[in-house]
Amino acid sequence: MNLAQTSIKSVLVALLLSSAFVPTLSADIKKGQKAYLKQCKKCHGNGTKGAAMKTQEEWTAAFVDDNAGFKAWHKDTKGEKYANGKKFKKYSEHLKDFLYEYASDSGNVPSCG
Ligand code: HEC
Repeated sequence: MNLAQTSIKSVLVALLLSSAFVPTLSADIKKGQKAYLKQCKKCHGNGTKGAAMKTQEEWTAAFVDDNAGFKAWHKDTKGEKYANGKKFKKYSEHLKDFLYEYASDSGNVPSCG
């Protein structure tokens, strides 16, 4: 491969990578928002209100260590079964992305709740 071909190839690779990463990020927030509306809204109200319950730091901390912080918030409440359930576990990564994005100190507000 000559030099010109090599640089064209690296430009293409860079383009591919950037277009692959940006939509994935926002798609996860969207997925998290959807999951929030399906799973958390009935107990905590709309997404703006729900995400604003905590700061970005608090959300981040709640989702480490197999979501121990999140489980602790729901221990001995009617949300306990949900917090330990499969549905929450399956979507927890996306939920975290959404909640972090719209945390009380994020300055962001979701377009629909
Ligand atoms: C079945 C009802 C139920 C579901 C589903 C549920 N929760 Fe809860 N949650 C509760 C209850 C009850 C509490 C404890 C009382 C309170 O603080 O409202 C609680 C507590 C919390 C707290 C702590 C509030 C505080 O003041 O410290 C946060 C944050 C929270 N939930 C977020 C969520 C999120 C995010 C989801 C969805 C991923 C969710 N909850 C799903 C019922 C639920």
